[in-house]
Amino acid sequence: MTMKKALILGVLTLMAIVNPCGGEDIVADHVGTYGTNIYQTYGDYGQFTYEFDGDELFYVDLEKKETVWRQPEFSKFATFEVQKALRNLVVVKKNLDTLIKNSNFTPATNEIPEVVVFPKSPVILGIPNTLICLVDNIFPPVINITWFCNGHLVPEGISETTFYPKSDHSFLKFSYLTFLPSTEDFYDCNVEHWGLEEPLLKHWEPEVPTPMSELTETVVCALGLALGLMGVVMGTILIIREWRVGILYT
Ligand SMILES: *[C@@H]1O[C@H](CO)[C@@H](O)[C@H](O)[C@H]1NC(C)=O
Repeated sequence: MTMKKALILGVLTLMAIVNPCGGEDIVADHVGTYGTNIYQTYGDYGQFTYEFDGDELFYVDLEKKETVWRQPEFSKFATFEVQKALRNLVVVKKNLDTLIKNSNFTPATNEIPEVVVFPKSPVILGIPNTLICLVDNIFPPVINITWFCNGHLVPEGISETTFYPKSDHSFLKFSYLTFLPSTEDFYDCNVEHWGLEEPLLKHWEPEVPTPMSELTETVVCALGLALGLMGVVMGTILIIREWRVGILYT
């Protein structure tokens, strides 16, 4: 914990969003990261995350004012005092205020997020699985991740992690979708972020190897057998010739 306190990972960033319609002033947003704790002025958003070995155990949301366990079962064994997290966030917020002034309200640019989609387990048709949408290089930590199945918004079966801070001050987030693999369904992870000009759709569909037809199988088997037998015959002939030549010349 002292280590975490000593390390102010992400310090300060400012961001300007220009309203495309014009007429409105530039809105500057500021993000402060302190270990795994984040506070940003946009939406008065704060996130207190408790990690163990790089995995999120739980987080406390400023708005919800409650502890949300990554694995609900954990809440049966442990409790966490929400007030402690809220006090921490107040400190992060205060530090951020100072840093905003010290940096002379310098604006920073939005990063372009990187998205990959992959299944949790090897895909077997008809066996329930989970699709993982990994969004990397998120900055600022304001994002919408949704899922589409065959082009339609998926309303349930989705969960996501909090923002994981990275050493380069950007963030990482995972979104999970439980699904039943079928050759008929295709999926898209939809990411909305200020670093993107338009929502990014990352496509995924099961790659099912087409099973060999029985005829192909028989032909392949027969060819293999023929080739093998030919090898045995050729080999025997060669050995005999070698042997006879050996006898003649010695
Ligand atoms: C996320 O979705 C909300 C509601 O549709 C929208 O107002 C907001 O601008 C979106 N955020 C981003 C980063 O696109």
